[in-house]
Formats: sequence, structure tokens, C-alpha cells
Amino acid sequence: AKTRHFKWAVEYMHWSPDGLENVVMGINGQFPGPTIRAKAGDTLHIELTNKLHTEGVVIHWHGIRQFGTPWADGTASISQCAINPGETFVYRFKVDKAGTYFYHGHYGMQRSAGLYGSLIVDVAESQKEPFHYNGEFNLLLSDWWHKSSHEQEVDLSSNPFRWIGEPQTLLINGRGQYNCSLAGKFSKSSINPPCQLRGNEQWAPQILHVQPNKTYRLRVASTTALASLNLAIGNHKMVIVEADGNYVQPFSVEDMDIYSGESYSILFTTDQNPSNNYWISISVRGREPKTPQALTILNYSPNSPSKLPTSPPPMPPLWNNYTHSKAFSSKILALMGSPKPPSNYDRRIILLNTQNRIDGYIKWSINNVSLTLPSTPYIGSIKYGLKNAFDLKSPPENFPLDYNVVKPAKNQNSTYGSGVYTLRFNTSVDVILQNANALAENVSEIHPWHLHGHDFWVLGYGEGRFTKEDEKKFNLKNPPLRNTAVIFPYGWTALRFVADNPGVWAFHCHIEPHLHMGMGVVFAEGVQRLRKIPNEALGCGLTAKLFMNKKGN
Ligand code: C2O
Ligand code: CU
Repeated sequence: AKTRHFKWAVEYMHWSPDGLENVVMGINGQFPGPTIRAKAGDTLHIELTNKLHTEGVVIHWHGIRQFGTPWADGTASISQCAINPGETFVYRFKVDKAGTYFYHGHYGMQRSAGLYGSLIVDVAESQKEPFHYNGEFNLLLSDWWHKSSHEQEVDLSSNPFRWIGEPQTLLINGRGQYNCSLAGKFSKSSINPPCQLRGNEQWAPQILHVQPNKTYRLRVASTTALASLNLAIGNHKMVIVEADGNYVQPFSVEDMDIYSGESYSILFTTDQNPSNNYWISISVRGREPKTPQALTILNYSPNSPSKLPTSPPPMPPLWNNYTHSKAFSSKILALMGSPKPPSNYDRRIILLNTQNRIDGYIKWSINNVSLTLPSTPYIGSIKYGLKNAFDLKSPPENFPLDYNVVKPAKNQNSTYGSGVYTLRFNTSVDVILQNANALAENVSEIHPWHLHGHDFWVLGYGEGRFTKEDEKKFNLKNPPLRNTAVIFPYGWTALRFVADNPGVWAFHCHIEPHLHMGMGVVFAEGVQRLRKIPNEALGCGLTAKLFMNKKGN
């Protein structure tokens, strides 16, 4: 195993992700940020300098569990203080498991500003993947607004509330087309004229060049701020083999869903008529799509890459066809030989997701608490027993029996909170995510929940309110291990994990505006086992004062 060194500078720069010039948050002059490629067992050493001038920054390594290095998780207010302008922070951690991952900003709405990139971990030198392929591609999916993330942030936290609306463009590896369409020649309307591209534009699609009759691995990850997506390769079947850095029982589909925070590996075989090129398409699911499909080309050699496919792009399933989405999610099962969940739980926490009002502001709450992050990182205030850093009262374990999850709440009010769920070290924890009706009648949204510091087993999905009876239907035989799982409208999702990673970990909806509006909770476990938290992670709030008082620490 190696240590891989990187020197990164985060800064704003002019960029045209979709043909319209805008400002993005880039790394070392690149958007998306540089792709990290490592082998399982390697240590990454990333020196991150903040060149943003007026705002702090952190980077979260999504899907990396940070065993023994919880201060390198890159979540502002939880694992560290935001890095001040002009300052450098070193992220040093081990990537212990092969898989498809990514990284992104985790302070305010910096992910929406474009602070993200891919992190690919190959199997260790002596290991083999449980499948074969001749070549591979990597697609990082995101959504893009022309309005700056700062303005979006103000919109969301204003009274009256302003919704940010649907994204203007979907991006594949940071590239999308706003004023034109690659499939323009197939559209009857004139709103999407065909693109005139030389191929060297920042927003020109990245073409996938393939040879006929070979098998390719396609890695995809979604770091969207809002959109749930559906991916299809025209005329080609896809075989899913990996999800969130864990192998799954291979299964074949024509199209697949991918929610924000998820990653997959797909195998496809170039067994179609080699004189044609084919579409790769990404479309919006779960929300009425007001954003055009993102497209790129699967280019069979020796065809010209600019040769368009002979027919229009694949039609995605209807945006609100949840039956289709649920069918896909339930096909995902662990590959034989994967770690099994404990057969029992020591503690079960039921988390009701609701949309609420606090003093006229619209928020999301969990068991009626809307998360607000403290100015001292939890990891420091818990370790050093600081009393006034956050709400010491633990948030509720459940919600009232008489709450009707299919109707808007009778009482829409909720409260702010910064309390923590303290988990006993090495215990088995069940989390039941319970969806509900939003503020408006007949509205319930998709929420992809992401857990830091762990993978969890997805034991099952269900409709309506979760009851003790539902437990009998849990899959304890081959549930998939993941770090992100979705709750469907009006449904529940059951997860189990072992609290075996000393640290403080965010668990939240991966939709950026939802997290910003309070849709998350914080878990702490085994913090007293941490020997030394680097001071550089704690130079703010009450921990900064603590260190000032004990000089020479
Ligand atoms: Cu990728 Cu806390 O998120
Ligand atoms: Cu959400």
C-alpha cells in the first residue's frame, strides 16, 4: 500500500458547465475537481488550501468510512471547523475498500456551487474483482442552476420562502448543454436546436469510445443537489455489479435509477450493430421534470464520434412511476459472501421526516426537530465535555402514535435543535426512516439518506406507517450494504448498522436544499476512545478557547 500525496487549492473560477458562463467552485483550476485514483489499503494525504477569500471550506470523502480518522470526514461543525480563507488543512485517511466514491464540499451549499469530484478505489494489488471487463469509464452526475449557490441559500432561508426550482441543466462529468441539444435533430420543437460543437468546449459532452464485442465497466455516481436520476444506454442492457462500494448480486436492467449520494458499477457489452453509435441518457425522476435529459454518445470504433445515433434518445420511465423505481431498488441484494447483519438490534430509532414551519420559515424536521449546526464541532465538544456547545438533551427516538403520515400535519410547527443521538459503542442500531406528507396536501417526496462513517444494511422498504409487524419481512439473508438509501413517498425504509467507528457522524438527506433546511441528525459513538484529535480540526468556537487557555497543548 502507498501513501498518495495531493496539493489542492479551492477557488472560484469562471466556467461554462452548460454553455452559459458562470462561476463555479473548482480545484486546481479544474471543474469537476481532479479524479483521485487509489488502491484499497492506500493512504491519501490531501493538503487543501482555501483560496475562496471570504468563506470557509471543507471536503467530505463520501463513502469512505474514516476508521480511526473521524476528524478527516470533512463535515463542518461535526468533524472539524471550516478551513478559513488562506489556510491549509491536511486530510489524511485510509481508503480501505475498493469501490466507486466521490468527494464534495460539506459546508453551507458548496456542493451546489460545484465543489465535487470522483474518488475511485481499485482492488489491492493481490486482489481480483468478482467480474471481468475490458475497459472502464467513470461518470459523475450533477445538476446545475444558473443562480449562484449563495442566492439559492438566501432563497431557502427567507420568509416568505422562495423555492430554488428545478435545475437548468444536468451535467455528466461537469458537462451539459443548455441552449441546444445533442438530439436536436430529432426534436420537433425549435426550443432545442441541434448543438454546434467543435468538441473542445468546456461544455462539450465527454464521448465514450468503445470497441465492438467487448465488456466495459461504467462507474456512475450522483452528487446532484436535488435531482433523482434515471440512466439508460440506448439498445444496451446494463448489469449492476456494485453499489456504494459494495458488490451486489449481478442483475440486468434496461434503465436504472440513481439518487443523490449513490454510486454504482454497471457492466455492458458492445454487442449491437457496430456501424451505429448509441445514446447514453440521464433523466430526472421523482419530480416533474423541467430539466432536459443529459446526453452523451457511446461511440463504436471506427465510427466518427460525431455520428449521431439513428433514433432519438431512450425514453425514460414516467417521472412518477414509483412502482418502477421500487422494483429497481428491491433488486439490489448483496453478493454471496458479503458481511451479514447482526440478527438483532440493540436500539431502534424511528425518524419521521416532515416539512414544517418555524416562525414562518419553512424547514424540514426529524421527529419535529430541525437540525441547526453549532459553531463548535461536535467531535471536539463531546471529547472535551464542553457544556454549552450544543443541546445536551437527546432528540426523540420516535414520533407520536396519533401522527397521520399520509396527511399534512395538524400542527405544522417544529423547533430547531442541535442534539445528538449517542450510540453505545459496538451495538447494533436500527434506523427506520419514515416518510410523511409534506406541508401541501397529497405531496410526499423522495429523500435519499446518507450515513457518514459506516455502511448500513438495507433491511427493507414498505408503504405507509412502519409497524412492529413489518419487522417479520426484513431481509436478514442478503440485504445490500450501502451508505445511501432512499425513502419513497409515504413509505418507510429500514436500516441496520453497527456503531463500531469512534467519532461523530452526520446522517442526513443528501438533497442539498433539504439538508440546508434542517433534514438531518447526528450520531456520536465511542468518542472517548479517540486519543488525540488534531488541534487544526478544532480551531474555532469553544474548542479554540479551550486550547488558548491551556497554552502549550
Ligand atoms: Cu455526500 Cu453528508 O454527504
Ligand atoms: Cu430530502
